[in-house]
Amino acid sequence: MSDSPKHLLLVEDEAPLRQAIAEQLTDRGYQVEQAESGEAALAHLADFAFDIIVTDLRLPGLDGSAVIEAAVARYPLIIAIVVTGFGTVKDAVEAIKRGAWDFVSKPFQIDELLHVLDAAIEQRRLKSENAYLRSQLEERHRFEGIIGKSRPMTRLFQLLETVAPTNSTILVTGDTGTGKEVVAQAIHHNSPRRAHRFVALNCSAIPETLLEAELFGHVRGAFTGAVGNRQGRLEQAHKGTLFLDEVGTMSVALQMKLLRVLQEREFERVGDSHTTKVDVRVIAATNSDLAKLVAEGQFREDLFYRLNVIPVQLPPLRERKEDIPLLVQHFLGKFAPERSLTVAQEAMRRLMAYQWPGNVRQLENAVERAVAFTAGRSQIDVDDLPTEVQQAQDPTTASSVTLPEDGLDLDAFVGNIERELIQRSLERTGGNKGQAARLLNLKRTTLVEKIKRWQAR
Ligand SMILES: Nc1ncnc2c1ncn2[C@@H]1O[C@H](COP(=O)(O)OP(=O)(O)OP(=O)(O)O)[C@@H](O)[C@H]1O
Ligand SMILES: [Mg+2]
Repeated sequence: MSDSPKHLLLVEDEAPLRQAIAEQLTDRGYQVEQAESGEAALAHLADFAFDIIVTDLRLPGLDGSAVIEAAVARYPLIIAIVVTGFGTVKDAVEAIKRGAWDFVSKPFQIDELLHVLDAAIEQRRLKSENAYLRSQLEERHRFEGIIGKSRPMTRLFQLLETVAPTNSTILVTGDTGTGKEVVAQAIHHNSPRRAHRFVALNCSAIPETLLEAELFGHVRGAFTGAVGNRQGRLEQAHKGTLFLDEVGTMSVALQMKLLRVLQEREFERVGDSHTTKVDVRVIAATNSDLAKLVAEGQFREDLFYRLNVIPVQLPPLRERKEDIPLLVQHFLGKFAPERSLTVAQEAMRRLMAYQWPGNVRQLENAVERAVAFTAGRSQIDVDDLPTEVQQAQDPTTASSVTLPEDGLDLDAFVGNIERELIQRSLERTGGNKGQAARLLNLKRTTLVEKIKRWQAR
């Protein structure tokens, strides 16, 4: 912590509790002002630029979330911490979305709050000192090797820039090959933890019986074959980042233990009675729908909320086709750095028309393969692409229409096709005109208009 006293605004409606916390914070060198309501807090904030605000979430009148939002809007650098009551993790998440740095659950020991404050101050310091970090992120077409300039990707980069330097737990979701691990690594490398380890554990790759020992470590004799003491991945990630891949496959028993790690940052090695403390940031990833697993009772709801503090969703590649040329360039540079290979326009069109069920990983493989196929040539052609990609056709131009010998009536012909497609879209959506219109990229009113017109005929 820096030498100058930290000015802290404490917002809590219960006077005895507020007094007690204020005294303890003052003992530790904080300069504390007290506010008994959200409104009073705003009045303080209007007068003075506090370094830190610690606020209860549940307040009569203006609640803690709104106070945080107002504080952060006025002072973007303020460190805002919320104090939550029992069972309000969801609200804490909401407060974090509104700009809170972290949260502490009631009842808490003063040391817990002090720890959160120290960590926040340290991170804030690093964040403002590391100006280079910011300049590095200015280039918005990439973030640590994550390529993309589509809207979803630029929004993703903004989100990563904001959340990477924090300690918040992050849940990365997305289909296979969309870049969940790349994103997790980028977050680690842009966090103050970058000097420490990024440790990955794929929960689905390890048999259930071994997963616990893998995660928590074990002591000698804990089970047959446990010949010595062994550190688990959690301990290996101390001060760094633990990446829990495929977290949705974890057993309910283990979920419970992970929950404790997230809440208390402590655990026991398998077979050990001694409790070990760790300082890790957790990033989890999954390509299953965790909310659905929660609804089905296969995933603990409290763990879900603890993991999903900051949700990061990766869009499938087919929803950001404009990134495909960039990614292709990137992979050409990776697989054929010495050759100045180009891609024939027709080949690029097929690449962009294809649906990419395997997302970026599949595209990467296709480029690697094409590079090998073009050995002596300087251009990648359609023939160099995998068969399924060669066959991909842009649905707006693809058609098997041939012009009959004696010609046709164009208007009637086009009208029939239109009618056919409208009928099919209505069938597919069970008669829902709004959804059908979206399928055809029409306004609902336009669709209704067209239906009326051919009904009148
Ligand atoms: N936006 C991107 N820019 C550059 N490379 C990317 C991008 N997204 C993914 N990749 C590359 O695609 C491959 C797959 O990425 P990654 O392993 O992160 O996917 P994943 O979402 O974890 O997949 P899975 O669910 O199958 O584990 C990697 O080689 C990665 O480098
Ligand atoms: Mg992965």
